Amino acid sequence: MQASDLDEVLAIEKVSFVTPWTRSMYLDELANRSARSTVFRLNSQIVGYACWWEVLDEAHLMTFAVHPDRRGQGLGRAILQYIEEVCLKDGIRRIILEVGRKNTTARSLYRRTGFAVIGFRKRYYQDTEDDALVMEKALNRRNMSASERRGETG
Ligand SMILES: CC(C)(COP(=O)(O)OP(=O)(O)OC[C@H]1O[C@@H](n2cnc3c(N)ncnc32)[C@H](O)[C@@H]1OP(=O)(O)O)[C@@H](O)C(=O)NCCC(=O)NCCS
Repeated sequence: MQASDLDEVLAIEKVSFVTPWTRSMYLDELANRSARSTVFRLNSQIVGYACWWEVLDEAHLMTFAVHPDRRGQGLGRAILQYIEEVCLKDGIRRIILEVGRKNTTARSLYRRTGFAVIGFRKRYYQDTEDDALVMEKALNRRNMSASERRGETG
């Protein structure tokens, strides 16, 4: 992700979250040496993006969205798989994330890609008055499925 991507990213962000991140929050992210911020394109158009931090052997997924017109086509799953591949190459051993209890779509995606709930933070999201579930996935090549190892999106 580069500063020149932010118009497209913010357009997706605004329709994806009740309290969208602002341009300056993304600029901070781009300047953060622990952060990896990535956009995903189809036919040169940004269809999804993700920001995660890598600290020691742990990654924390900070934000992640797919363009509303492109949802339900496997892109979210493919983006998570890409993040895992990058993390594995960087020596990351586990990915942690928070997801709203009410966000059943994202919860389903995470569960189906091997994340497990390890805790929750009550009323973590003040805008939606929602609890956050803390989910974790341990990374190592042995617990990836054969299709994941081959790079298929499933
Ligand atoms: C969550 C999000 C990234 C999923 O992206 P996507 O490209 O639609 O996801 P995929 O097409 O790869 O779907 C993967 C899984 O997600 C779940 N899923 C997708 N759409 C769903 C829906 N409408 N209802 C329930 N589950 C759904 C399913 O478990 C699906 O697995 P399956 O294909 O084996 O059935 C997307 O909905 C989004 O951007 N949401 C708004 C932002 C957001 O909530 N981000 C996550 C913050 S924690």
